[in-house]
Amino acid sequence: MAEEQEGLAKEQEARINRREFLNLAWLASLGFVTLSMGGVTLLFAFPRFGEGEFGGVSSIGTASELPSVEAPPLNNPSLKLWLTRPPEGVLAIYKVCTHLGCLYSWSDQEGKFLCPCHGSQFEYDGTYIKGPAPRSLDRFVLQAVDPATGNVLYESQDGQPLPVPEDPNVIIRVDTGRKILGEPHG
Ligand code: FES
Repeated sequence: MAEEQEGLAKEQEARINRREFLNLAWLASLGFVTLSMGGVTLLFAFPRFGEGEFGGVSSIGTASELPSVEAPPLNNPSLKLWLTRPPEGVLAIYKVCTHLGCLYSWSDQEGKFLCPCHGSQFEYDGTYIKGPAPRSLDRFVLQAVDPATGNVLYESQDGQPLPVPEDPNVIIRVDTGRKILGEPHG
């Protein structure tokens, strides 16, 4: 009888230990999930791009360094954009085609942007001409920045060209984290 009771006590003890182990494992996995979610939240809460990197804000020079009106588009591979100078101001056009994401390029002969993948074509300012692309090219927000204070004087609105500042020392910045989608057509 005493042996039987001892056996029962041991079995009960083993069951309690198993339960404790399962509780601990459950708490550990809960802690892991909480920490992971906290990490992801922090990643989103703080800027992920440094100054000058694609996805962040970068200076593209002063107003005096901008290309002249209707000069051939300036290729900026690191910021993945074409800089163009329509009469209304300056534009930063995203280099990726709005159809399936190929890199298009400027044709001096034809005076337009041509996509090699499926033949979409776009004007100097990124406006859709023809081809399977569903919309005009996307543009990044541009800013005119006071060189003395670093304050933003004004920025481009709704993807419109940024008017070129009269002061040649004003800094022009592009925010490649803020993309304005091109106008859909037809
Ligand atoms: S990806 Fe440019 S036309 Fe298809």
